[in-house]
Amino acid sequence: MGNTAQPLLEEYQLGDLTLKNRVVMASMTRGRATNAGLAPTPLMAEYYAQRASAGLILSEGTWVNPKSIGFINVPGIYTREQVEGWKMVTRAVHDKGGLIFSQLGHIGTASHPDHLNGELPAGPSAINPQTKSFTPQGLKDTLTPRELTVAEIKQTVQDYKKAAKNAREAGFDGVEVHAHAGMLIQQFLSPATNRRRDEYGGSMENRARIVFEILNAILEVWGSTRVGIKFNPVAISNVGIMTPDEETIPMFQYMLKKLSGYNLAYLQIEGPAEDLTGTPVAVLQDNYFSHFRRHYSGRLMANLGFTQESGNAILKEGTADLVSFGAPFIANPDLVERFRYSLPLSESNRDTYYTGGENGYTDYPGAEGFYI
Ligand SMILES: Cc1cc2nc3c(=O)[nH]c(=O)nc-3n(C[C@H](O)[C@H](O)[C@H](O)COP(=O)(O)O)c2cc1C
Repeated sequence: MGNTAQPLLEEYQLGDLTLKNRVVMASMTRGRATNAGLAPTPLMAEYYAQRASAGLILSEGTWVNPKSIGFINVPGIYTREQVEGWKMVTRAVHDKGGLIFSQLGHIGTASHPDHLNGELPAGPSAINPQTKSFTPQGLKDTLTPRELTVAEIKQTVQDYKKAAKNAREAGFDGVEVHAHAGMLIQQFLSPATNRRRDEYGGSMENRARIVFEILNAILEVWGSTRVGIKFNPVAISNVGIMTPDEETIPMFQYMLKKLSGYNLAYLQIEGPAEDLTGTPVAVLQDNYFSHFRRHYSGRLMANLGFTQESGNAILKEGTADLVSFGAPFIANPDLVERFRYSLPLSESNRDTYYTGGENGYTDYPGAEGFYI
């Protein structure tokens, strides 16, 4: 039976869903939707099914409409063909006794005309986010984008709602809003990329408006405990000019207070990948997750760099309710079993993170004796 007396391996009630453990597989873009329709493939179904012993799987970031595309071979969830592809994935995961949420994303201005039939990407303001986009010709610098009209913002919110409906039709168990580093939602939250003067810009309330409009639209489709949201409040690398500022902490306090009233499945917070000393969010350095715990009364999922030991510790002290693991799931499809039997973890090959077909994707074996 192994060591089941560890918090990570406890069953967990998430609304009406029973998670068989508190180990969540975090969203990971793997670039395997290598077809013109950006539809999930049988290989992707195999990959997710191999990881079905996680308490919950969060799908890779998935485009909500054609304008949200900004990275090669990432699947969407806005066409019939894509929904049919996702049905294959959810069926394969459910057949293995797993649960899976769809992560709904939009890359906004961090895209490139190469993804958009030559059109400029659009976002809150015509300000270059100064990041990179992974195009068919490799990494390219982002450009000065176009400002979305209010009508286009309202349409984008409706596209999230349609994507959430599609996720339900495709057999997902819920959805996660990808409000994470560098994407469209963060572009609205950050005063560096949002200079609007209408109801979507200026005050913190206005900049955060789109978060609640998207959530409210999705909640017309899904019960609240089937909807999660993921933020990285302090990302410094790979977010261009959207680095933390003096308003980051008050902004999150404002949003978390409001989100506390939503009874969501969870709030997933990614931890700091860098030392925060000397940044406007330096006070979070030593009490990062407990800060968010204090300001949010719902379920908290902690993410970034967790190990079996630190994952068990944060659950034991009650700072988080769930822990998500990203990179460790790449080379350890049986991560839960490895925790149960305290087996060593395999190292993944970064060269095949975003390319390579089955190589570095579905060919990582389980630990000996536990092949899945
Ligand atoms: C290859 C790769 C792709 C990723 N793609 C996504 C993504 O599509 N959506 C997302 O929210 N996070 C993405 N992430 C971030 C992970 O979900 C997670 O937040 C991060 O890896 C930290 O967790 P870890 O230290 O356990 O890996 C990705 C990470 C990796 C390694």
